[in-house]
Amino acid sequence: MAKLRFLYDCDPGADDALAMLLALGRPDALEMIGVTCVAGNVGLEPVLNNARRILELAERQDIPVYSGAARPIMASQGRVSIMHGSDGLAGSPLPAPKMPLASGHAAVEISRIARAEGQLHICATGPLTNLAVALLLDPELPDHVSAVTLMGGAAFCPGNTTPLAEFNFAVDPHAAAILFDSGIPVTMLGLDVTRQAVITKDMIHQAEAIGTPVAREASRLLINYGAKDPCLHDPAAIAWMLSPDMFETVTGHVSICTDSSPAAGQVVAAVSERHLAGRTPNCTIVTGVDAAAFQRLFLEALGA
Ligand code: BDR
Ligand code: CA
Repeated sequence: MAKLRFLYDCDPGADDALAMLLALGRPDALEMIGVTCVAGNVGLEPVLNNARRILELAERQDIPVYSGAARPIMASQGRVSIMHGSDGLAGSPLPAPKMPLASGHAAVEISRIARAEGQLHICATGPLTNLAVALLLDPELPDHVSAVTLMGGAAFCPGNTTPLAEFNFAVDPHAAAILFDSGIPVTMLGLDVTRQAVITKDMIHQAEAIGTPVAREASRLLINYGAKDPCLHDPAAIAWMLSPDMFETVTGHVSICTDSSPAAGQVVAAVSERHLAGRTPNCTIVTGVDAAAFQRLFLEALGA
């Protein structure tokens, strides 16, 4: 089977880090061709450090890391998440990174890489600011992006940051709206599915037993992050790219509330004919997962 080449846009973030380790553990199926970083769980500087700390842990310093948006489009400052600790990696013992950043702003690089690839698959697990800025800078970008697979949103369930919005969409609702309105096919792994992708004690024990440096850091992240938010949110987006058969989906039209109101960042998902009202679906909304199969996939990628 041909490998899926993809660009990873993220805000590590403990679960973004776990997603990176899952993807890097499956070089037979996935090729991460670059990492673009955005402020989210923590500020841009620790995010940039964390992406490189994880790549160095996995001995993949060959993957370029690009710096991106330090704030959402319409807010002068993002909101950070308390779930990931002050360093963003739950107090990780990993050393400061040695690898340099690649030159170029993430939003510009997304366009360049998409054209170089012809058709680019993007996986995004942070606020969508980099992608939105890329779309604003380059109106023809949708012609060069085959798909965006993202973790974000809550289509049919409550939010985790506000009653109505999930963190990534709550941080930058305008960016999410720009992406969903772009015409690029999106697969959305929101809280509907990621709340089912639970971290269990048994999973942690199995990860600990593997004993490699990567698995040791992964189990430390699973323990510390999992104690606050026991869900494999961002790894779910990678798992979808590896094994879509383990998930359940519906197709629909997604729009994002950008009002400056308590509904900011809310997903409005139309799936019935009546609610679609003639609009073409723009999203595969992932609604379910075989949690045990997902845990197995994750542990095997770590070397179990
Ligand atoms: C999402 O928010 C962040 O805190 C996580 O990294 C994940 O991307 C879950 O709502
Ligand atoms: Ca994230």
